[in-house]
Amino acid sequence: MARISLDFDRILGRVDPRIFGAFVEHEGRCIYGGIVEEGSPVADSAGFRTDVRKAIEDLQVPVLRWPGGNFVSAYHWQDGIGPKDARPQRFDPAWGAVESNRFGTDEFMTYCELLGAEPYVCLNMGTGTLEEAMAWVEYCNGDLDTYWANRRRHNGRQEPYAVRYWGLGNELWGEFQVGHLSVERYVEKAKQWALALRRVDPTIQLVACGHNGWSDWDRLVIDELVPYVDFHSVHIYTGSDDYWSNVLLPHQVDRALRASRAMIDRARYVADVRHPVHVVYDEWNVWFPTREDRRRDKIVAERHTLSDALAVATYLNIFVRHCDTLRMANLAQLVNVLAPIVTDDSRVLLQAIYHPLRLASTYTLEFALDVAVDCDRIEHADTPDANRMTHRIADLGPFDVLDVAATSDASRSRLVLNVVNRRPDAPVEATIDLGSAQVRGEMTARVITADSPLTTNSFDHPEAVSVSERKVTVTGSRIPYEFPACSVTQLAFEVGE
Ligand code: AHR
Repeated sequence: MARISLDFDRILGRVDPRIFGAFVEHEGRCIYGGIVEEGSPVADSAGFRTDVRKAIEDLQVPVLRWPGGNFVSAYHWQDGIGPKDARPQRFDPAWGAVESNRFGTDEFMTYCELLGAEPYVCLNMGTGTLEEAMAWVEYCNGDLDTYWANRRRHNGRQEPYAVRYWGLGNELWGEFQVGHLSVERYVEKAKQWALALRRVDPTIQLVACGHNGWSDWDRLVIDELVPYVDFHSVHIYTGSDDYWSNVLLPHQVDRALRASRAMIDRARYVADVRHPVHVVYDEWNVWFPTREDRRRDKIVAERHTLSDALAVATYLNIFVRHCDTLRMANLAQLVNVLAPIVTDDSRVLLQAIYHPLRLASTYTLEFALDVAVDCDRIEHADTPDANRMTHRIADLGPFDVLDVAATSDASRSRLVLNVVNRRPDAPVEATIDLGSAQVRGEMTARVITADSPLTTNSFDHPEAVSVSERKVTVTGSRIPYEFPACSVTQLAFEVGE
């Protein structure tokens, strides 16, 4: 029998809603054929697909990162403004694609406003110049009678967009990145850019380009850039065809957040930096790229399984538990490519990973609670893996078979538990111990599971992995509950003393 023990006095911190952010990139069918499909019967007059928009709205995305990713490192934003038919069609060296530029800055900002999401723009530090980046900030945020602010007005937008978040480049540590830099050259350049960009708009918040959170690149970027930025970014994708690796690999984010936090604390102390610097995990998801996927002409279209949904739920639990360090996360890439939402010409499909995302973004409460979990533990040896995107995790184990995050509201009258049962073949019986609190009335149980860890949703079987919801009458402060094999469960309680 497992035990999940809660104490409402053990508050880890406030959960930042920006951890439910997302990322859209000009890659594959994310933008064209996903977010926009001009002339389609399912698109509105601006060309935005209404079915996709509805699915995104249900995820309540608070912040949206754009335009890349690798794409941004050769993207010239000025190609994407003004009359659409006059915009140049360009070669995109990141993905070997043709970029029509029909979706540009104004379309992105409009889309964010429709969604109620804050825009987060990543800058081109590959082929882009500082002058171009300063002009982009002026175009978006300028309120004076100046050239780029006036170009925005001329293009139909009077008020500044007031874009708060700006990323200082994308993954410049990688040789695959157009304009790849050594860390020494990156920090030199990023410092110069940060100082100049803040002269255009001192209110912007800047994100330094980190790596996996614990690398030498991260260490040097943190040491040198903490005085100049507000956030340090981390990217980790995980995925494996080995079940246990797939569901446990997200724990690398524990390492990433602990290491980045320690390095940031040290750098702030050494340089006597008074402003806070937090971590942004601005690209994450389950991605198991095969060699085939890596071909330049191949459009990535990940099909997510139930076990991927468990991994995504685990990521989200980790984000909640590290709420003190992590202040924003952006799921890649929201629509098509690696995505909770996929489209064909006229339909939307919600992949398995959509469901834990929606449950977490809809029901997570304001404060994260520390939870003690007593259950079986898994020792996991690293599996040899040709996939370069996975990393070792054996050092992080053993792992609880149940992964749990708990949140409560300020008045301590509501409690939400998110529990991942990673045992693929057996339920886990548990007692949920609420300490001195008592349940009032019914408990809502929302469960995501299916017959097999490899179950996927498809246009033919769109609900093979979905959420079943039921109300259960429970009393007292020790609640018995059986978590189904290979499942994500959300339990919501009204509680009192
Ligand atoms: O999400 C796909 C790609 O993965 C992004 O463009 C890049 O930043 C990362 O390497």
